[in-house]
Amino acid sequence: MPQALNDAALDQLFRTARTYNAFTGEVSDDALHQLYGLLKFGPTEANSTPARIVFVKSEEAKAKLGPALSEGNYKKTMAAPCVAIVGYDMRFFDKLPVLFPHTDAKPWFEHREQDNLAWVAMRSSSLQTAYLILAARSLGLDCGPMTGFDNAKVDEAFFAGTSIRSNILVNLGHGDPASIFPRSPRLSFDEACQIL
Ligand SMILES: Cc1cc2nc3c(=O)[nH]c(=O)nc-3n(C[C@H](O)[C@H](O)[C@H](O)COP(=O)(O)O)c2cc1C
Repeated sequence: MPQALNDAALDQLFRTARTYNAFTGEVSDDALHQLYGLLKFGPTEANSTPARIVFVKSEEAKAKLGPALSEGNYKKTMAAPCVAIVGYDMRFFDKLPVLFPHTDAKPWFEHREQDNLAWVAMRSSSLQTAYLILAARSLGLDCGPMTGFDNAKVDEAFFAGTSIRSNILVNLGHGDPASIFPRSPRLSFDEACQIL
């Protein structure tokens, strides 16, 4: 039987984990491989794993990303050791014969309208972004997720000529505690949940 994680682990993943605006240190390529090695196991619809991730570390790649960022996200993203561009592949179904081998799942998706496919791919890639955040925290990294950017500009700069579209950006590094406000409130159980 799996055991509940201890308090220190729960703090690191949830209770004391924060969304940081500034980071210190580096994020090694090895750490990014470890990160993907964990997040890839999070569940997605029909194991479609539609997320496609570009880890932006170089000055050259950051210069391509910069013009797409909102004013409020520009400085902190340019200064972050690494920025994950999490996109989703609109043709995720092409890989289903490999990813979901026990049944022929490709026909479930391949003839759907683009809007419906985008909804499916965005839903599971958003889940994968959450797995990325929790995997990063598990590995001792901190995150700064963002949607304040121009998706069309990111798509043009990084995914032109492909079936990939951008979804969420996540700054990665070691969070600087001086960069955050006190924790904002959360809804209580009774405000957010029902047990029926
Ligand atoms: C999908 C998503 C989009 C977000 N977009 C932005 C953004 O564009 N800019 C920003 O500064 N913070 C952004 N945030 C950060 C949230 O405001 C932050 O995670 C939330 O207030 C909780 O903060 P905490 O983790 O420190 O408690 C985003 C977070 C998520 C999950």
